[in-house]
Amino acid sequence: MQDSPTAITRKFLQANLQVHPDVVLTVLESQDPTLIDAIIKNVPKDALVVLPRHIPGYVNERYEPPLPHTPVKEDSAGTEDEGGSDNDNAEGESPYPNEFSRFDLPEDIEILAGSPSELNGGAEYTDFAYYFRNRYTKLAKILRGRGEYIPISALTQTVRYRKQQVCIVGMVSEVRNTSKGHRIAVLEDPTDTVNVLFMNPQLQAASPNRDPERDRMRQELFAEAERLIPDEVVMIKGTLSDDGNIIYSDTMFRPDIPPMNAPFRSKEPAKAVFISDVHVGSNTFLKDEWERFSDWLVNCGAKYLLIAGDVVDGIGIYPDQDKELTIPNIYRQYEVFAGMLQKLPHDMRIIVSPGNHDAIRGSEPQPALTEIFTKHFPPNVTLVENPALVSIHGVRVLMYHGRSYDDLIAMIPGASYNEPQNMMEEMLKRRLLACTYGERTPIFPAKEDKLVIDPIPEILHTGHVHITGYKKYHGVTCINAGTWQSQTSFQKQMNINPNPARAFMIDLKTLSCELYDFSGDSPTLVNL
Ligand SMILES: [Fe+2]
Repeated sequence: MQDSPTAITRKFLQANLQVHPDVVLTVLESQDPTLIDAIIKNVPKDALVVLPRHIPGYVNERYEPPLPHTPVKEDSAGTEDEGGSDNDNAEGESPYPNEFSRFDLPEDIEILAGSPSELNGGAEYTDFAYYFRNRYTKLAKILRGRGEYIPISALTQTVRYRKQQVCIVGMVSEVRNTSKGHRIAVLEDPTDTVNVLFMNPQLQAASPNRDPERDRMRQELFAEAERLIPDEVVMIKGTLSDDGNIIYSDTMFRPDIPPMNAPFRSKEPAKAVFISDVHVGSNTFLKDEWERFSDWLVNCGAKYLLIAGDVVDGIGIYPDQDKELTIPNIYRQYEVFAGMLQKLPHDMRIIVSPGNHDAIRGSEPQPALTEIFTKHFPPNVTLVENPALVSIHGVRVLMYHGRSYDDLIAMIPGASYNEPQNMMEEMLKRRLLACTYGERTPIFPAKEDKLVIDPIPEILHTGHVHITGYKKYHGVTCINAGTWQSQTSFQKQMNINPNPARAFMIDLKTLSCELYDFSGDSPTLVNL
């Protein structure tokens, strides 16, 4: 029978060794009962912590970021076996390795992650354990560039680090405010859990000797702690209490995008158009505006059209939806959408990913639309999952419908549907498209967490909120393309004012962005 992480950690502790979380994961995944003894034999006598390199047969590429100038396999988009993305946040490191060109490909478009065949089969509830371990491994690898961290069990099960400065990487399993107004989180890694306290600087006694710079840092740390949400992974530095039960945090890092991230640009001139939330079948679908857009595409100069979900309004998505449908048949909705696609330029490559209104499993990652609904789509359409990572002339576009906006807006102070670009920044900071399990975003248990943002895309393309948003965050172009549906009765109740009939066009050679509005008699440019 397979040992638990705690049992594995204990076996190493019995040999007077602490153990790195990656080693615990390897033992768990190996199913080899002799591996622990083999690792212990391999550890030098003066070593205190068992590291991945002490595993017999350890090969560099599994655990370490690729060396500079080493080609990185890209087609699986950041699986844990790859050794991290080429532009992880090791400070001072070039985001792209030298002359290696993953971009010199015979085709100008490639689905790096999210091809339709990848999500077949069911899942066991035990897959959640794999799922969260996989998330931890991927994000801890990114955080490694911020400092050497130790397993949480080293803090909780030994006395060595009491009252010492420590550094850990943990997944937030719980976070709340204390009765005194401070913030406390429970962090977990594969070895144990520990409490982390963030002191509220507003509640600390004033002193004439206080350093204003230090005060500012404390305030920033507490503001970030207020934005902690369950299931994100962070690095914490701070002082361990004298009983080993709590870390008084003074620094926190999220995986984030490196500030010096330099996005790739296409070598050839190429443009792509980005839309989402067409909602065909709804009585609020904007047919005239769509036709204006369809005509404009003919001479707009773009060869690619990406659609980030909710291509139809669907059936039974919300109570009494049938009263707001002009096409109350799901097959007919897709047929009408297929007819709209057929009228678009035949030499335009069209990528379609699903959203929560589409006729496919709602939990994420969502499979691609199936043939029963798409058989009338023209051959220039490529179906992908939600999310999907698509390379166009080497520019990586991460398409994600955006269901997790509903959770982020509920959990993050100051978040609003009116500014989806700020929520995209929150996704990028956490390197997670959807973070918290058990809220409004259903998550499908799998052995790999495909909602981790790795590698870093050049463009993050979302929808769902029906409000356009645009920003550049650390070199990543964030766009939310809005909708082709006017305000629904539900949005009226919720005081959500969509800005429909808009499309982004991005020049892939310069990554400059234009937003067109098709709600008037002719397309107009919107100031960004
Ligand atoms: Fe939508």
